[in-house]
Amino acid sequence: MAETMNGMKRTHYCGTLRMEHVGQEVVVCGWVQRQRDLGQLIFIDLRDRTGIVQLAFDESTDRGIFQKAFTARGEFVLAARGRVRERTSKNMELPTGEIEIEVTELRVLAKSETPPFEIVENSDVKEDTRLKYRYLDLRRPDLQRNLIARHKLVKVAHDYFDRNGFLEIETPDLIASTPEGARDYLVPSRVFKGSFFALPQSPQLYKQLLMLSGFDRYMQVARCFRDEDLRADRQPEFTQIDFEMSFVDQEDVMAIGEGFIHEAYRELCGVDVPIPLPRLTWDEAMRRFGSDKPDMRFGLELTDLSELLRNTEFKVFSGALAEGGSVRGICLKGEAEKLSRKEIDKLQEWIKAYGAKGLAWTRLAEKETSSYEKFLTAEESAAIRTAMGAEAGDVLFLVASGDNSVVFASLGALRCELAKRFGLIDTSKPCLLWVTDFPQFEFSKEENRFMAMHHPFTAPRDEDVDKLISDPGHVYAKAYDMVANGYELGGGSIRINDPDVQAKMFEALGFTPEQAEERFGFLLSAFRYGAPPHGGMAWGLERIMMVLLGTDNIRDVLAFPKVASSAELMSAAPGRVDAKQLEELGIAILPAAQKDGE
Ligand code: AMO
Repeated sequence: MAETMNGMKRTHYCGTLRMEHVGQEVVVCGWVQRQRDLGQLIFIDLRDRTGIVQLAFDESTDRGIFQKAFTARGEFVLAARGRVRERTSKNMELPTGEIEIEVTELRVLAKSETPPFEIVENSDVKEDTRLKYRYLDLRRPDLQRNLIARHKLVKVAHDYFDRNGFLEIETPDLIASTPEGARDYLVPSRVFKGSFFALPQSPQLYKQLLMLSGFDRYMQVARCFRDEDLRADRQPEFTQIDFEMSFVDQEDVMAIGEGFIHEAYRELCGVDVPIPLPRLTWDEAMRRFGSDKPDMRFGLELTDLSELLRNTEFKVFSGALAEGGSVRGICLKGEAEKLSRKEIDKLQEWIKAYGAKGLAWTRLAEKETSSYEKFLTAEESAAIRTAMGAEAGDVLFLVASGDNSVVFASLGALRCELAKRFGLIDTSKPCLLWVTDFPQFEFSKEENRFMAMHHPFTAPRDEDVDKLISDPGHVYAKAYDMVANGYELGGGSIRINDPDVQAKMFEALGFTPEQAEERFGFLLSAFRYGAPPHGGMAWGLERIMMVLLGTDNIRDVLAFPKVASSAELMSAAPGRVDAKQLEELGIAILPAAQKDGE
């Protein structure tokens, strides 16, 4: 039978004891990290969320207690009373390594089966196994540190926004589906059979309505749900630090935004990020880095070679240019000898995932080789080399496509890949910036219409309002993203508060007035009753944590994450439900779907 705490009151956390406590009687509680039996001596490393302390048992220890210590195994839960003493052999690697507790009372509060893996820092156990036993995985010091830091960030957010006059107001989680953006998670209604709530992808509409209601400054640490394909920095269920403010322009919102991130870095990392943050327009970010979330901790900028190749006979290049696309390249300095032909071939395959049909290259090693120079005139080849500042030892990579977004996506990704492989990233300090002036729309080939790049309530720049219908491809938005180390941390915009502009926006998006009314009716009607000028932004809390902690795995900063298939391995969610539950909701599962779920 396990013993109880009865009368034992913890006085200290394990990891907090130091030389200054020597001589004091303390009570500590925690889990057995390991037990070492040296015959006459037993040592137990006891762990709680602050760290580890050594419990010592020797001849002077009561025999009953010595026996209990002898049977203690990994992950047993103990409470120990004793006097802190200086160790004879110190472990300076451990913060508590100069002391130990000479135990005078020991309770075994719970026994443990042998865990499926050892609870150690930076475990190399397969992640699926760790996620299945997440409650054990979360005992690891690195994950505990991450979640403690996450708590601190939320606290910094609450303090910062409170100090700046923002009110935290909760918005609902069961809302109407508004199919723009990612796919919604749907929740069937029992009362209105055949009808569904959606889980919010963000509090966007509600925070705008709060501005209409006169709350002036809102913030929320908000759960968001998006049924989209997962990537290393995406979860179906994540948290936003979200705010909105009235009677402001873009500069005011950005100032509040960078004030917060400055405070977050200072409080969590002790780093003073210089503000105001540098800015790039979207056009410049794409042109120079092939990405709207450029990692500027390294160079490898893109060079546009299109004009030089305007008259080339080489079909791959001329074809791309004739279709309205471009030929661009990046120059990897001084690595020609290290990048083998085989590795270049692999990169050619790798880049296809980004839509490029191929990767043209020139390797300026001792023996120069090139995949494309033989198809060009000597002048064209020389012009490319000059434009890219090529020197002996460099490798040139070129991508041509009729679709500029393919050129940007593939070279943007290649730049990051090469920087990683060749250690070109300066990790000594964070690199934050704003990307501004996003295009209002992007053309969707699938839907054959313009889609909102941010969302349909984002205001166009004043000078572009007249182009909404006549020239949507050249309308830019009052939208801004905050980027750090190549991650999109957050984004926002000034919103439309003029119903006439909003109507034009819907028209540009291809909605009839009836369709707009059907989808966003309540919002449109609200805007007819005096909407203040307003704007805001939201950060992905997990994204900020990833950048602050320097991890590229979003699951490291969530207590109970989902895996790539959106499943949660520990509780085996999603799961089947009873026929009775389905019947109550008026839902039948199609036979094909029954098989899929098995
Ligand atoms: P947006 O859709 O850009 O804007 O989202 C804001 C930020 O949320 C984070 N994020 C995610 N994090 C983890 N997993 C995901 N699946 C995921 N999707 C987004 C990103 C992103 O920058 N309502 C607007 C904000 C506004 O205009 O005020 C919005 O949601 O860090």
